[in-house]
Amino acid sequence: MKKIGSHLTIAIDGPAGSGKSTVARRIAEKLGLLYLDSGAMYRAVTVLAIHHRLTADSPELIDQVKTCRIEFTDNGKTILLNDKDVSVEIRTPSVNRLVADVAKIPEIRSEIVKHQQRIGSEGRIIAEGRDLTTIVFPDADFKFYLDASVRERAKRRLAELRKQDVDTTLEFVEAEIQERDEKDITRAHSPLRTAEDAIIVDTTDKTIDEVVDFIIAEVCKREIGST
Ligand code: C5P
Repeated sequence: MKKIGSHLTIAIDGPAGSGKSTVARRIAEKLGLLYLDSGAMYRAVTVLAIHHRLTADSPELIDQVKTCRIEFTDNGKTILLNDKDVSVEIRTPSVNRLVADVAKIPEIRSEIVKHQQRIGSEGRIIAEGRDLTTIVFPDADFKFYLDASVRERAKRRLAELRKQDVDTTLEFVEAEIQERDEKDITRAHSPLRTAEDAIIVDTTDKTIDEVVDFIIAEVCKREIGST
């Protein structure tokens, strides 16, 4: 029986609130993989823009991205921007509003993608975002596209925000998600799309555990089950 190998790349894409991060984090723990939250990197660049009072399309921001240090510790739970922990700041409403505009700048994307590919070369990884199955790891061993209805995704986001004591409404969160979806899907460079060879998982009526078990079963079917 074949064991899960020393090199394994699982790539997951999908829109905001589709469950990618929670699912990927759990699978990382269960299978002992490195977890890469690619959205957190675009969020960190957005924090950089806010700190330096730069607009998303300013050449100064591109210069900053080329020289800044973005690192993960604690298997993806903590993100450091130039040695400062920005894990909480990257989830604030001001970052939510600006991140899709920052993420559509091609020069910023190419710097971040190079960084992600360097992290991926370490061997055993589960990475999630918008272009992991198409651009960052086009040769990933496993590709999944997670989706859910906008209402369900907004409900999930609202629950997260409420935990952080953010005072907002379902309607507001839903409108923000729709606006971000629209920007991520229609942008010229690396838009969110379903890779031809990705397995599509509709998570609307599924629990996190059901999605995790489904993905692990798919991986085991091919990786371990091939006797
Ligand atoms: O996944 P998350 O919602 O944290 O991502 C925040 C934003 O970062 C997305 O809305 C998208 O604009 C951008 N992003 C991206 N490519 C990725 C991951 C995230 O453009 N691979």
